[in-house]
This record gives sequence, C-alpha cells and structure tokens, in this order.
Amino acid sequence: MTLLGSISSAWDDFLGCHLRRKKEKRSIEGEKPAAEINSQLPKLEDSPFDLKGRKIIFVLGGPGSGKGTNCTLLKDAFHLTHLSAGDLLRAEVASGSPLGSELNRMMAEGQLVPMDVTIHLLREAMARAPATSNGYLIDGFPRQVDQGKAFERLLHVIPAAVLFFDCSTEVMTQRLLKRGETSGRPDDNMASIKKRFKVFTEQTMPAVEYYRERGMVVSVHSEGKVEDVFARAKEMLMLRIPEWATLADEDHVEVNEA
Ligand code: AP5
Repeated sequence: MTLLGSISSAWDDFLGCHLRRKKEKRSIEGEKPAAEINSQLPKLEDSPFDLKGRKIIFVLGGPGSGKGTNCTLLKDAFHLTHLSAGDLLRAEVASGSPLGSELNRMMAEGQLVPMDVTIHLLREAMARAPATSNGYLIDGFPRQVDQGKAFERLLHVIPAAVLFFDCSTEVMTQRLLKRGETSGRPDDNMASIKKRFKVFTEQTMPAVEYYRERGMVVSVHSEGKVEDVFARAKEMLMLRIPEWATLADEDHVEVNEA
C-alpha cells in the first residue's frame, strides 16, 4: 500500500469536480497548477471513513507559537492522536516522490500547499488512528477558511474546538531562529520566516476569526515556560470538553524544557 493508501470513492468524485472548478484559481504563477499536483495522488478505495465518535480539535497559531510542542504533551494527557499537517507534508517530501519535491519548494517559500493535498494526507492518517484514541489534535490545519469548510463538508464533522496558541512575532521569531540552528528545516531562516508570518496574518488569521465568530476558539497565551503554556492549554481544553477532565493523567506527561 502507498503512503496515501486507501480513501473513499466519494472523495475521488469530489476531487474531480472540485479541481475542475478551481483549477485556474489555484494555479501558482509560473508553477504547476494544483490539479497537476493532485493528479499525482493515488486513487481512493471504497472504504467509508468512520470517526468512531472521536472529537476533533483544530490547532492553530503562528509559526513557532508552540503548536507541535503542546500537541505532543496534550496527546499524552488526553490519549489523543496528534496529526501535524506540516509533518505529514515533510514525510511526503522525504519519500522522494515527484509530489514531494513540488511540496518542498512551496514549503521552503512559506507558501500554503494546495488544500486537497493536505486534506488527503490528513484523512489518510486519521483513518490509521489507534483504537484507543479519544480524538484528534489536527496541528496546523486549517490555514484558510476554505480548508476548514472543505474538511467539514468532506468528513461530515464539526470540530469540537479550535485551540489557538497566541504568541508575539518577536517570541516566535526567536524560537524559530534558535531551532533553525539545528533543525535542518528549509523554512527556519529569516527570509522564509517572514514569508510564513505574512501567510499566517493574511490567510490563517481570517480562519481563526471565522471560528471565533462561531464560538469555537479556545485561546491560549503561549509565551513563557513550556510547562506553563501546556498547563494553560490543558486547563482550557478540560473546560471546553469536560469529559476529558477524567482522562487527564498527570503522571503520564513529562515536560522537557526546550
Ligand atoms: P508547519 O510544520 O505546521 O510549520 P508552522 O506552522 O510554521 O509551525 P512550526 O512547526 O514551525 O511551529 P509550531 O507552532 O508547531 O511550534 P513548535 O512547537 O514546533 O508547516 C510548515 C509548512 O507546511 C507551512 O509553511 C506550509 O508550507 C505547509 N503547510 C502546513 N500545513 C498546511 C496546511 N494546512 N495547508 C497548506 N500548507 C500547509 O515550536 C517551535 C520551536 O519553539 C521549537 O524549537 C520548540 O522547542 C520551541 N518552543 C515551543 N514552545 C516553547 C516555549 N514555551 N518556550 C521556549 N521554546 C519553545
């Protein structure tokens, strides 16, 4: 089975129509159109996707706001499945596929990759969640209002909350530059970081506002020590989803300062 594995025929139908409609719109000047990139995605199988009653939390915040760090801790605290859109895309890049090399170029430029690719990868990874998982932390998604709407439409689900990590540009920049000394990520340099901030402000903040208007945003101040930010995030999630309070197992989570 390929990395992208099996996905339903309904999804396949959707891609066909959706891409025909959006082809021109989502072409990047001088680059491959989104439809061409999506044509590299494998066909989907006829297995309906079942969330099995698990809750979905979208996790948003600027580059370096601490989404990944906190998801790793929250995942253990509440026995959740953590899916990072960025990590899934980097795994596709690491696979060496032609799709991966196109994604790598976009990510190094701080651009968003075509929505269908991200949703495709997420949906595939969600289907592989262990039976014991209580829900999903979907880290770095949706980065545009349209991504969120498409996700809800395709999976027939409304997220239980949008966890937003609120951090100043100065702190995020310091964290990313520090990580860039060792991470090897092609986007952890000042030029890419500036582009990522611009995309975040112009494209992702409207998505945060969209969910805020729907009363779904749980905002967490994400400056300060890792353990303090995590404690705030955990508290906020327990307030939002009271049944998770009984799941929290304090001894289970170890916090290692960055
Ligand atoms: P992605 O990998 O999601 O990158 P990002 O959003 O820029 O976020 P980061 O992973 O850099 O930071 P983070 O907020 O997770 O913080 P972290 O915990 O790692 O996306 C990369 C690219 O993929 C995008 O630019 C785009 O091209 C593409 N992409 C992704 N999703 C997409 C989508 N939905 N649609 C289209 N394209 C998409 O922390 C950062 C650093 O700070 C770490 O070193 C950490 O140790 C440190 N740190 C964290 N918290 C603290 C703290 N409290 N104190 C001190 N240090 C801390």
